[in-house]
This record gives sequence, structure tokens and C-alpha cells, in this order.
Amino acid sequence: MKDTPINYDVVRQKIDSSGLPEVGTATIREIVLLVNQIEKETGEKFIRMEMGVPGLEPSQIGIEGEIKALRSGVASKYPMIEGVDILKKEIQRFVKNFLDVDVQEKCCLTSVGSMQGAFATFLVANRTNKDKKGTLFIDPGFPVQKQQLKVIGQDYYSFDVYNYRGEKLRAKLESYLQKGDILTILYSNPNNPSWICFTDAELKIIGEMADKYDVIIVEDLAYFAMDFRKDYSNVGKSPFQPTVAKYTDNYVLLISSSKSFSYAGQRVGMMAISDKIFNRRYPDLKRYFSSDEFGYAIIYGALYSLSSGVSHSAQYGLAAMLKAANDGEFNFVEAIKEYGTRAEVMKKLFTENGFTIVYDKDEDKPLADGFYFTFAYEGMTGPELLEKLLYYGVSAISLAITGSERTEGLRACVSQTSMEQMEDLKFRLEKFNEHHSK
Ligand SMILES: Cc1ncc(COP(=O)(O)O)c(C=O)c1O
Repeated sequence: MKDTPINYDVVRQKIDSSGLPEVGTATIREIVLLVNQIEKETGEKFIRMEMGVPGLEPSQIGIEGEIKALRSGVASKYPMIEGVDILKKEIQRFVKNFLDVDVQEKCCLTSVGSMQGAFATFLVANRTNKDKKGTLFIDPGFPVQKQQLKVIGQDYYSFDVYNYRGEKLRAKLESYLQKGDILTILYSNPNNPSWICFTDAELKIIGEMADKYDVIIVEDLAYFAMDFRKDYSNVGKSPFQPTVAKYTDNYVLLISSSKSFSYAGQRVGMMAISDKIFNRRYPDLKRYFSSDEFGYAIIYGALYSLSSGVSHSAQYGLAAMLKAANDGEFNFVEAIKEYGTRAEVMKKLFTENGFTIVYDKDEDKPLADGFYFTFAYEGMTGPELLEKLLYYGVSAISLAITGSERTEGLRACVSQTSMEQMEDLKFRLEKFNEHHSK
């Protein structure tokens, strides 16, 4: 089968020389490196779907905000660890305007990306009770968060939510929580990699479980307002981005600026902690921190130890974008809707050429078109499919590395595929199907 869109021998040789035991289960960065090498050698451009990087320009408002801050001299000064006042204020407004949730300004913090927000939360929340262990991940999920736990020697459980949607989620969660050793539950919503979005009924169940078993929900809103089936862009008006904060006071919300504001490079994220958790005292925290108060431990224990705050100018850039969004002058959702359009076209091309969508429903509703989708090809395992697609100039990652039990599937990220590349994608998928359909 050598009549492939990308030179067969080059792909074979690059795979062989990569030293990877199995290309199909390589990490995202390993796939990036391998595809870079194939592209360089062949001069052919791949349809790159392996990495979740924003493919759109950030708003000028953020950039101007940063420049203005730099000109005013912030570069020489240490920022406050919890965030500059203007940013904290705008985070509080943002949470009210787009989630319809009230949090005190002091409970709104900034972190070096949501990545650091999760890490700081693990460092504190998973040490609030010496007799308990760690995190329950509602998977599939973002592999680096599990790596964070491993790095600090904390334990975790995880399960694939695929077969436990709707009311079934309750019994599944209880089967873990009844063990009595879980301190936090983490999930992303919309979900990376599957793009499932929990319904309000499911979020209510999660909230009820948090109250019943006294666990903290770490809700990772890395793709804030990106379920484009609903328009979450109206300031202070329904519909709002769904959140567990409507159903429990035991929460830490992680809100990333990376995708919703195309601001990944500046590494500035937001945390909103419920007043109850922020002010709560956990005597066992004294083992690691000077205070037993959750909020204090997060700021002066975890965030201080990790990076002593977020770069000053990035905070002002984010504050400027949030202010414009809060004032109704910047529709940040409109700016990223393009991802939904791309996903719709791409999913159609895949399904017309013998592929199936793996995670395809939110309870009874078809899944939204957004930043990611998942796909499979009959008769192939995920790793096999990933490797074979490389000969056709298409790259993705295996669901097997995300805690998914659907190991036949791959995750595709739409962000780096422009509309001009759709014809190429069509041709390559047709060829693939021609060569592999039975
Ligand atoms: C689910 C999830 N959480 C967190 C992050 C990291 O966000 P940030 O860039 O704000 O650190 C990502 C980025 O891809 C993600 O997919």
C-alpha cells in the first residue's frame, strides 16, 4: 500500500528512527516532533490535529493592555501573588456575568495558566484531611493533571464517564466516594478530549455528591463558553455557562484564558473559589502550611511556592479583555466560534469516509461542534489508526492516553486546520477509506 498521499518510505523511516516503542500511544509532544520531521523531509503540510493550541489571534485589547502596563513600569515590580486588584475585580464580575455565580473578590485569584491553578489546588485541597488520599477524575481527561499528582506523590482514581451519563453518574460516583478517601473530584466541562458537556442534571448530581461526602469539586473550565449549541456570550443574561457552583458551595473553578481568549502563550489563568471553601479551616493543612485556612494556604503556601504570582503585564492584558467583556464591549465567544464551524465540516468529512464519532452524545442530544472531536475506523485499534493516518498526512492523538476506555478512538483538535485545508483533508480521508474499506 505505497500509493499514499505522503511518501510512504519517508514516513516509515521517520517512524522507525523515532525510537518510539509504539507510535500510536505516543504523547502529544512526541507526535508533534515526529510530524515536524516528516513535514520537513517531504515538504508536505499535514492536517495537524494532535495538539490543542489556539489557532486564532488574541484580541488586540489584551495586547494593548499589556503594552500599556509595561510602559507604566510594571516589569520591575513583583506582582501581588493573588493577582492585581483590577484583575481580581474583573474576575469577580466575569464569574457573575457569565456563570451567574457570586464569589467575593478576595476569592478570585490568578495563576500561571489553569495548569498551575490545578497544581496549587491539588497541593492544598488534597492535604485537608490526613486520613484521606486524593482526586477522583471523571475521565477522559487531560493527562498532565495526573502527571501533576504523580509528581507530588498523591493518589488518584479515575473512570471513563462514557457509560455513566445522566442519572447513572450518581451510583458510579457513590461507588468511589463511599470508600471515604477522596478529597477532590476533577473534570473538564466542555471535556477535553471527548467534547461531552455535562447537563445541568449531571452537574446537580456532582454538586449533591460534593455536599454528601464533603469533597471539593475542581471544575476545569478550560473551554469556557465553547459549547456553541448555546450562546453564552450575553452579559448578565441567561443562558449562562453551566457550572457545578449552582449546586454546591464546595468548589474551586479553574477558568483558562488560553482557548476562550486565545491567550495560551501568556500563561495567565483564573481561579474562583467559593467563599465557604476559601474561608474554611482545615487543621491538617498545618502539616504543610503556616495557616490552616484554605484560601491563605493556596495563596501564601502553594502559589507563592510555585511561581510567586503571574507576570505583571499578562495580568493587565487579561484584566483589559475581561473588563471589555464585562462591559459588553468585547464578545469573546463570537471571536472563537470559528472552531465550531471547522468541527462541523471536519466531522462530516470523517463520517462520509467510513469513520465514526466515538463520543457522540450528551445524554440524548448530539454532541456540540467545538475544539475537539473523537473518531474511530472500524476494525482498527486507536494506535493502529493513528499510525496509518500518518501516511495520509493526518495527525491526532490516541484516546488511550486520556483515561478513556474507548481505546479504538483518536482525538482530533480542530484549531490548526483552516477552512482552506478542508479540500486536502477530504482527499486524504477518501484515499484512506479507499485503501482500507472492506
Ligand atoms: C482540560 C484542560 N485543562 C487545563 C488546560 C490548561 O490550560 P492553561 O493553558 O490555562 O494552563 C488545558 C489545555 O489544553 C485543558 O485542555
